[in-house]
Formats: sequence, C-alpha cells, structure tokens
Amino acid sequence: MVPSTAGLLRGLLGLIWVLPVSMTPSAVQCTSLKTLENKLKDRQRYMKHNFPINYTIRVHYEEVFRLSNVTRLRMRVVEEESVVKVEEVDLQDLWRWVNKEVLKKLLRILPERHPSYKYTADLEGLFRQVEQVFPDSNERERPEPIEEIFNRLTDRHPNGWRFVTPKSLLDNCYRTMHCLFKDCFPSEDGEQDYCGIAHWRKGRKRLLDT
Ligand SMILES: *[C@@H]1O[C@H](CO)[C@@H](O)[C@H](O)[C@H]1NC(C)=O
Ligand SMILES: *[C@@H]1O[C@H](CO)[C@@H](O)[C@H](O)[C@H]1NC(C)=O
Repeated sequence: MVPSTAGLLRGLLGLIWVLPVSMTPSAVQCTSLKTLENKLKDRQRYMKHNFPINYTIRVHYEEVFRLSNVTRLRMRVVEEESVVKVEEVDLQDLWRWVNKEVLKKLLRILPERHPSYKYTADLEGLFRQVEQVFPDSNERERPEPIEEIFNRLTDRHPNGWRFVTPKSLLDNCYRTMHCLFKDCFPSEDGEQDYCGIAHWRKGRKRLLDT
C-alpha cells in the first residue's frame, strides 16, 4: 500500500518527536525570553518601590529557585545506568514551572488598583507566551530529583513556608533565566558567566556607581 502524504508526515513528525530534545533554545524561544527579560528590567520599580519596606510573601521552599540551586542540580551525577539523568532541559522546564507559579502568586496578592498590578499581569502574559513556544514538559519523563521538586511544589500542605520579598523572587527569575538560556543573551563583552553570583554582584556595583 502506498502511504498517504498525511501518513508520511505523521511518520516524520513522530521521528522528530523521539529525537533528543535540544537544549539550545530556538530563535523563536529566544525572542519570547528576551521580551520577558526586557520587562523584568523594571522589577526594581514595580516590585520594590511600590511595596512597604521588607514586605514579604509566603512561598514554597521550591519557589526560591536561585543560581545556587542550578549549580547544585547540575552537579547531581547519577551513577546507576537505569536512572534518568538531570539534563539542561529539565532545569529549563523547572525554571518555567517555578516562575509561572511565582507570577501567579504575585498576581494573587495584588488588588487590581495596585500600581504594580498591570506590570505583573503583563509579565504573566509574556510568560504565557514563553510557555507557548516550549514543548509541553509533561510529555517527558522527569529524572527523580526533578520529579521530587515538582511534587513538593504542588504540595498544598508543605512542612514549611519561606517568606521572601517580591523583588527577590523576580531577581531569581531574571538571573536563573540568563544562566539557563545563556545563548539567548549574548553580550558585547564576550562570554559572560551568568551562572556565577560574581557576575551579578559586579552588575549591582555598576548600577550603584552610575
Ligand atoms: C528590613 O530588613 C533589614 C534586614 O533584615 C533590616 O536591617 C531593616 O531594619 C528592616 N527595615 C525595616 C524598616 O523593618
Ligand atoms: C533551592 O535551594 C533551597 C535551599 O537553599 C531549597 O530550599 C529550595 O527548595 C531549592 N529550590 C529548588 C527549586 O530546588
């Protein structure tokens, strides 16, 4: 029997599907991440100046996803052959999941007339656009350490909570985004170590100096 064009196409798509997921983001993915990055640059104004000093919100431990978390998860070397290894793409999925939750939470504490409401809603919208250009992470099997984090993240009655400022949540989002998607953020000064905290300390000093 001669296969139909549709059948062939389906076969091809199936083939693409089983190929390992690339960890280098595509141009479309970078574009949506960069739009988000640009918006996040205003976080100081909207997530700090518009809030009382030291104002904090309650989040899951896992919603604090910092550069040190990325470093630690990358070091998870799994010995047994059978265990699914933590890959870059798993960390990218985790980043999207955590920050989607963080934005939802921020939006929930803000009354519509709050001066940061629109900013946060816009951020959430941009984030949804990011979600649309990435494959659904539920289609892949997650390595155990990542699966455990997902489970704790969705636990409605965790053993404890963290209290953190809205600004620090978005700082984490901004920095880990650069670390995990560094190919989207090339710099004129050559290769940047976005995953190192020193990079951001330097940045802060430069900001204060000007
Ligand atoms: C805010 O927190 C910092 C660090 O914990 C503390 O030093 C400062 O006194 C606090 N400010 C106010 C107004 O509570
Ligand atoms: C990041 O590390 C902290 C401990 O430093 C931990 O409480 C938190 O759950 C970690 N976050 C993720 C997403 O693994």
